Amino acid sequence: MTDQKTAEPQAAAEELSGRIFTAGVAAAELYGVYLGLSLGLYRALADTPDITAADLADSTGLDRRYTREWLQGQAVSGFVRASGPDMATATFDLPEGGREVLVDEVSPYYLAALSRLPAALGRALPQLVSAFRTGAGVPLPEYGPDAVAGQAALNRPAYHNELADWIATMPDVAARLTDTARPARIADLGCGTGWAAIALATHFPVTVDGFDVDSATVGEARLNVASHGLTDRITIAVQDLTEPPPAAGYDLVMFLECLHDMAFPDRALRTARSMLADGGSVFVMEEAAEDALTAPNDDPVQRFLANVGPLWCIPQGRTAPDADPVGPVIRAARLTDLATAAGFRRTEILPVENPVFRFYRLHP
Ligand SMILES: C[S@@+](CC[C@H](N)C(=O)[O-])C[C@H]1O[C@@H](n2cnc3c(N)ncnc32)[C@H](O)[C@@H]1O
Repeated sequence: MTDQKTAEPQAAAEELSGRIFTAGVAAAELYGVYLGLSLGLYRALADTPDITAADLADSTGLDRRYTREWLQGQAVSGFVRASGPDMATATFDLPEGGREVLVDEVSPYYLAALSRLPAALGRALPQLVSAFRTGAGVPLPEYGPDAVAGQAALNRPAYHNELADWIATMPDVAARLTDTARPARIADLGCGTGWAAIALATHFPVTVDGFDVDSATVGEARLNVASHGLTDRITIAVQDLTEPPPAAGYDLVMFLECLHDMAFPDRALRTARSMLADGGSVFVMEEAAEDALTAPNDDPVQRFLANVGPLWCIPQGRTAPDADPVGPVIRAARLTDLATAAGFRRTEILPVENPVFRFYRLHP
C-alpha cells in the first residue's frame, strides 16, 4: 500500500510527465503542419475537397506512402477530416476553419506558418547549445530561410486586417496620414519583409521607408513591395538602427515587434526620436508581457514569450559582447524606462484590445 508521503510526489511526477508528453505531441503535430504547408498539401486539400490519399499524392507530385501516413496523422489530430476509417478508400478534406488557419495567409486565424519557427530552431540548435556555454550570439541567418518567412507570415494577417484600426487610436496621427495634399512620411524600423509598410501604403496616401539589418529579409521585402505595385511609395534599405539615423523628417516612426530584438534598444530609440519631423511621434507594437513574473503561469501567451526568448530573440540580439536585448518578456515599465532614457517626454499605452500585443505611443 502506498502511503500519503510517496503518493504525492508520484502524482506530481505523473502530472509533470503528462505535460511533457503533451508538449512532445504538439511538437510532432507542428512538424506535420510544416510538411502540409511546405509541400502544398493543405492548399491541394482546400482546392480539391473529398480527395483520396492516392489522388492527393499524385496531384502534389508526392510519394503515395508518405502522403497516406501524413494524412493519417492529420486525421487523428483533427487537422484534416477523413470520410471513413479505411485509409485506402477514405476521402479527405479540410475541417471547418481549416482554410482560415492553414491556407489563407491573410486570415486573422492563419497560423500554419507557426510551424516554420521550430523548423528554423532545429537548424540553429547546435549553435544555441554552444552559445549557452560561450555567451555568444546566434545571428538570424543561422536560423535559415524558415526564420525570416515564419516571423513575417505570423504578423502579416494583423497588419492586413488591423493596422489601420491601431493607427485610429491616435486621431491626430490618423488625420495626418490621410492628408493627400501633403503626404505623410513613415519610417518602419526593423521592417521585416514589408507587410506593415504594404498595409500602410494600401490604407493611406503615404510614403514608407522600411529599414532592416538583415539583408535576406530586405530582399524579400523588396520582392513583396514590387509584387504589390508599390515601389513608387515604399523603399526598403539595409540599415542597422543602432547606428546613426539613416534619414529624418518622418511624421511617424514605427517599431513593430522588433524593439525587443535589438542589441541596443536604447540607441535604437534615440535613433527613432531623431528621425521625427516636428509634431511626429513613435508607434511601438510589442509583446503583451505581464507586469511581473507569475510562475507557473497558465496563460499560453506568457508561456510562449518566456520560452521563446532564450531560443530566438535573446541570441539573435546578442550581436556584440555588450549587447543588451530586452527579449520578448518586455514589460511596460521597462519600455517606459528605455523611452524616458532616450529623451521621450511621455509613453502612452494605446487603447487597443489584443491578447498578444501591447501598443505604445512615444511622445518626443
Ligand atoms: C520579429 S522581426 C519583426 C519584423 C517586422 N517588423 C514584422 O513585424 O513582421 C524583428 C526584425 O527586427 C530586425 N532587427 C533586429 N535588430 C535590428 C537592428 N539593429 N537594426 C535593424 N533591424 C533590426 C530583424 O532583422 C527582424 O527583421
